[in-house]
Amino acid sequence: MIRTPALAAALALMTAVGGCAMTPGSAARSDMPPLPASANAPVRYAVDTHSYARPEIARVRHVSLDLAADFAAKTLSGTAALDIQGEPGANEVVLDVRNLEIRDVRDASGAPLQFQTGDNDAIKGQPLTVRFPALAPGETRRIVIAYATRPDASALQWLSPSQTAGGRQPYLFSQGQAILTRTWVPTQDSPGVRQTWDARIVAPEALRVVMSAQTLSPDEGEPAGPGIKAWRFSMTNPVPPYLIALAAGDVAFAPIDERTGVITEPSRLEAARAELVSTANMVDVAERLYGPYRWGRYDLLVLPPAFPFGGMENPRLTFATPTIIAGDQSLVSLVAHELAHSWSGNLVTNATWNDFWLNEGFTVYFENRIMEALYGQERALMLQSLGWGDLQTTLADLPPADTRLQLDLTGRDPDEGLTDVAYEKGAAFLRTIERIVGRERFDAWLNGYFERNAFRPITTELFKEDIRTHLIRGDAALESRLMMDAWIHQPGMPSNWQPPVSTAFAPVDAAARAFFAERGSASAIPWAGWSTQERQRFLAWRPEGARAGADWLTAAQLADLEASLNLREEGNAEVLFAWLQIAVQHRYQPAVPTLERFLTGMGRRKFVLPLFTSLWAEGDWGRAIARRVYAQARPGYHPVTTGSVDAVVGRP
Ligand code: BES
Ligand code: ZN
Repeated sequence: MIRTPALAAALALMTAVGGCAMTPGSAARSDMPPLPASANAPVRYAVDTHSYARPEIARVRHVSLDLAADFAAKTLSGTAALDIQGEPGANEVVLDVRNLEIRDVRDASGAPLQFQTGDNDAIKGQPLTVRFPALAPGETRRIVIAYATRPDASALQWLSPSQTAGGRQPYLFSQGQAILTRTWVPTQDSPGVRQTWDARIVAPEALRVVMSAQTLSPDEGEPAGPGIKAWRFSMTNPVPPYLIALAAGDVAFAPIDERTGVITEPSRLEAARAELVSTANMVDVAERLYGPYRWGRYDLLVLPPAFPFGGMENPRLTFATPTIIAGDQSLVSLVAHELAHSWSGNLVTNATWNDFWLNEGFTVYFENRIMEALYGQERALMLQSLGWGDLQTTLADLPPADTRLQLDLTGRDPDEGLTDVAYEKGAAFLRTIERIVGRERFDAWLNGYFERNAFRPITTELFKEDIRTHLIRGDAALESRLMMDAWIHQPGMPSNWQPPVSTAFAPVDAAARAFFAERGSASAIPWAGWSTQERQRFLAWRPEGARAGADWLTAAQLADLEASLNLREEGNAEVLFAWLQIAVQHRYQPAVPTLERFLTGMGRRKFVLPLFTSLWAEGDWGRAIARRVYAQARPGYHPVTTGSVDAVVGRP
């Protein structure tokens, strides 16, 4: 009998929970709708040069973790049981590991299996090859790996109590994307190899453990020994391993509506919930746009400020930076973005990191449609214009080969594909298609795309095939108007691109010219009446054709700006960041204390890396500040952030 992955997962789950008393409301049955047929159709695995796995021979279908968190040692240790399927006769499976301590590998009966780790690659880590008796047709083989993570595992950040709002308990969180899951879970860490999973995590009893899955244990955990508790989780939808995520800390939950809610430290809970209330409407709007939300609940975990990203679309539980809690809901497009990934990315997943634009470009497009539906076209167009501005800077800075949508990142860190090209050029491509075929036809196609490809990996080739079959349908004139190959394979922006026109920004641009170019007074800037997006637009103003590194403001103008706009007290991280970029680029000394507070107060790479890069570009003045501030801030940053900043400033 062939056991389907879903059945295997269900059986594994039954064994895991067998005999345990379930609390009311927590059912072992998944709260997610059944999988569509697309989930079980055979996959042709793309070649993923960032993984050692050979899934066409033997692949991981299910991961079952049993791990204990040791905050003193900064390790997770225990076992990962993997269910392997493969071609008849396959007698080994190749996994990805990096910086893991592998203790032993056994079969389901506890008998040792032969295993071997290969040469270490600085980016990819090592292959872990496990041998077993040849698989019979349709057979599923369980292997059990006993292992521990290292204190410097790149996916994990162990926070001291002082790095939390409460200041009393430590905190742990993981960040798997792109290829960091292999530093805490030994599995086939390729986005094309989807796996169901479950976990039991043991942690100190003062903490609560949350994961990107359904919680099976009661919220307060289950007794597991003196001073410790256990939490159990299950993800019955097959997911790419970069979406397996864990956090543990002194956190509490507040509902928004029946299926959405917020989790964060107790002292921050009410502010976070109030900021993020629109999440409930966003899920409704997203479903109306592009079909059913297939993950059951949608909760947000607002992390401590060290979280290195703005947001991370971990299924059922988006991880978010606290820098979006601005007090006025002005930065909630980030939630729309992470939510949109529940379709583009988590349902339909880039097969390899070369096709990252299929995750992020589609998501930026979808995000903006959510924002338009909820907040109107004007706000949506403002957001598009800000994105277009960022993209122009990026296009000017990157080598032309890296401005193509489909990349070849072989031998490079997949992080190098994390640029505005994947996000904004990708979204611009979809907007161009929408403009040419009309919104109604475009939406019908995109709906179908998510349905047809649900729970499947997607490559740029498969995307082209899908759009040709279901939208272009042999219309040669349409095909040529879309200029798909130019968008995907040529650098820069194709000739059928029309930048967004936001007339709403016209008064902002006029005020910017009056102040920056015509040296007007900052008191004339109608700052108080502006939204965050208008403020961002104002601060993004740059003189036409300005040489990089050239000053375009005087010290008096900078002082006028800082005082009139009260920038020393600015609480909005996006606005503060935009100001500090200007200040650093002018070596404006009075802003240095504000800069220092900002850089030591949070570790979001999108803010931290550009500021250190700008400091570094300012010669002795900036380098001295960069070295001093980095020495102070680095211990608080996540490995993702230090990895990037080390390359600029060096290790202190
Ligand atoms: N999935 C990304 C974050 C990511 C990408 C992490 C690649 C690691 C590797 C997430 O959805 C994202 O794009 N976050 C953005 C915010 C978003 C609103 C553009 C971020 O973190 O800044
Ligand atoms: Zn994203």
